[in-house]
Amino acid sequence: MGRVRWVLLGVVATLALAGTGIGAAGQSPLGGKGPQQPIAFPHDLHAGKSKIPCMYCHYSADRSWDAGIPAVATCAGCHLPGGVPMVRADRPGVKQLAEYWQRKLPIPWVRIYNLPDYVHFPHMRHVKAGMQCQECHGPVETMPVVQKVVPLQMGWCIQCHRKRGARTDCFMCHY
Ligand code: HEC
Ligand code: HEC
Ligand code: HEC
Ligand code: HEC
Ligand code: HEC
Repeated sequence: MGRVRWVLLGVVATLALAGTGIGAAGQSPLGGKGPQQPIAFPHDLHAGKSKIPCMYCHYSADRSWDAGIPAVATCAGCHLPGGVPMVRADRPGVKQLAEYWQRKLPIPWVRIYNLPDYVHFPHMRHVKAGMQCQECHGPVETMPVVQKVVPLQMGWCIQCHRKRGARTDCFMCHY
């Protein structure tokens, strides 16, 4: 934090240069595969085929800084109602889920979109302003495995802020 604040003061002058790189990487998909997750959780089957709304699981995206990752209890609500294996109980991923549930352990999901601690990103401001999840995360409802589709660099944030007339002062994102 301290270092960044110091660096911030130093680099304001060079920002005009940094600006020229903005958008080069832009919205283009990065390719590659998402990480290996503790349970192979298919977004395409849940959000696509079964049409479960994104915010059924990422419940806080419109009212908190974090979109939120669902607790095991949320999964259990459909797959293990009252502890009884139901939906797709025969699938390996659902058997793993039952184990986490019985042992009362959280599922150690691997983060995919993750900014450094010195950057502050408020989900609620963006979602309330009418932005779709897909504008930043791509067509997640078609992805068997979630993968990053944007570089999450400062230039990406700034480019959209300029386009939409949102603020771009340093201390809005860094403080
Ligand atoms: C609102 C109900 C609902 C919730 C909540 C839910 N699921 Fe599912 N899940 C389903 C349905 C329906 C299917 C079957 C989809 C199909 O095959 O078309 C499924 C399928 C699966 C499968 C089997 C995929 C395969 O191999 O075919 C896994 C694994 C799974 N879910 C894990 C989870 C996990 C982990 C969570 C919590 C993060 C979760 N589910 C939350 C309804 C739900
Ligand atoms: C049934 C619950 C469920 C639904 C519905 C769901 N998700 Fe997820 N989502 C999860 C779980 C569990 C993870 C963590 C595992 C993973 O990355 O696949 C996750 C991860 C993510 C991530 C990556 C988070 C990170 O680690 O940075 C994004 C982005 C995301 N979801 C967006 C969406 C969007 C957009 C939709 C709607 C189109 C959606 N999700 C629908 C359960 C769900
Ligand atoms: C304006 C771009 C943008 C929009 C719109 C957006 N996200 Fe995100 N999302 C991000 C960024 C950036 C991160 C990384 C945040 C961090 O590391 O602090 C992120 C992280 C996440 C994560 C990881 C866990 C967390 O809470 O940080 C999930 C899950 C997620 N987003 C789901 C969603 C869903 C669901 C929607 C729509 C309701 C959505 N996002 C809308 C940019 C966006
Ligand atoms: C797709 C467009 C888009 C992207 C990408 C985007 N933003 Fe935004 N952001 C906006 C808009 C539009 C607003 C103004 C919302 C409003 O009017 O409340 C905003 C508002 C904000 C605010 C609140 C501003 C205030 O007035 O307090 C912060 C902080 C912020 N964004 C940080 C980020 C960060 C950090 C990133 C990159 C990781 C990012 N944004 C990426 C469009 C975007
Ligand atoms: C809309 C949000 C946003 C605004 C406004 C913003 N930044 Fe950033 N900044 C980011 C993000 C996201 C990162 C982390 C990703 C990266 O390194 O590109 C970052 C990273 C940085 C870094 C670390 C780079 C590195 O390589 O370690 C510095 C220094 C920095 N910003 C300075 C500034 C200065 C100076 C301003 C004002 C002129 C500013 N930022 C305005 C979002 C923002």
